[in-house]
Amino acid sequence: MTHKIAVIPGDGTGPEVVAEGLKVLNAVAGPANLKLEYVHYDLGGERYLKTGEVLPESVLNELRQFKAIYLGAIGHPNVKPGILEKGILLRIRFELDQYVNLRPVVLYPGVETPLKDKGPEDINFVVVRENTEGLYAGAGGYLKYGTPDEVAVQESINTRKGVDRCLKFAFELARKRHKAKKLTLVAKTNVLTFASDLWERAFLAMAKDYPEVTTDYAHVDATCMWMVKNPEWFDVLVTDNMFGDIITDLGAMIQGGMGVAAGGNINPEGVSMFEPIGGSAPKYTGLNKVNPIAAIAAAQMMLEHLGETRAAKAIEAGIKKTVTMMKSMGAGRMGYTTTEVGDLVAKHAVEAL
Ligand code: IPM
Ligand code: MN
Repeated sequence: MTHKIAVIPGDGTGPEVVAEGLKVLNAVAGPANLKLEYVHYDLGGERYLKTGEVLPESVLNELRQFKAIYLGAIGHPNVKPGILEKGILLRIRFELDQYVNLRPVVLYPGVETPLKDKGPEDINFVVVRENTEGLYAGAGGYLKYGTPDEVAVQESINTRKGVDRCLKFAFELARKRHKAKKLTLVAKTNVLTFASDLWERAFLAMAKDYPEVTTDYAHVDATCMWMVKNPEWFDVLVTDNMFGDIITDLGAMIQGGMGVAAGGNINPEGVSMFEPIGGSAPKYTGLNKVNPIAAIAAAQMMLEHLGETRAAKAIEAGIKKTVTMMKSMGAGRMGYTTTEVGDLVAKHAVEAL
């Protein structure tokens, strides 16, 4: 079977890290008996600056036809913040209804974490971030814009259906994962007495259908504290869009940095999109210095999602072996260039097949 994949390298260092992800995918494809076909799209800052186009309708409709989308990074220093992020990244998430943002926080053996006395056995959890609602829905507006009496309202939209489908994904994941089978709801029930209350009621109601899953609750601020102090307490976390955005940056840091953290924007019934969660890192563009591990791990998640378990496992093995050889996960400090890291993962992944 052929998997048709849309590739959006995007801005800054996106194209460099995506090239390494594709290198690794192509290296395992032959030996793993995998047929991958790519169509590249030049969405991003350069296209916008040249043509004024952000995400044309026709391109959006083409994206709906693929098995998956592989994305590098979106964000350009010469474009006002928000235009590309909202116009491309968030628009794809919303239009393709990728309602879960799945972000594993895994510390690979040999990778340094800033957490004292914590290791790979302690840092191994998954954040299920709701990806189409909350503060990201874009509800709100101004009154008396630009005047001294200006009012800005930004509303968090939480629908029972939207919350339920996200919770269901999280419960199913907690049931399947080989850990504690514990699901922690992250919210702020002591202040957000409407939004977090809806989440909590839906969570408790659904818990009845999953007796084998232990449920737990943590306020989002306390979650930040526990993630640093006792990350081993977590197995699967489920939360809204904004809280999920914030805690997964913290998660990325404890797993060794943005160079390692990958995520998937999942529509279980549709087209999903996989990306390294760090940004476009403009100051490193074209220097062959950034860490492609996150982008390669995103490619691994994509194969898992496509049901190509054997090839995905091989890439994971390739990553694990390669990171033990690297000096650091930070850009310019890896002891290797971007392309060399890609070569190493490709080699080790093929050896693992
Ligand atoms: C992320 C990013 C995006 C988000 C930005 C670029 C819009 O920070 O994927 O976490 O806030 O979701
Ligand atoms: Mn973010």
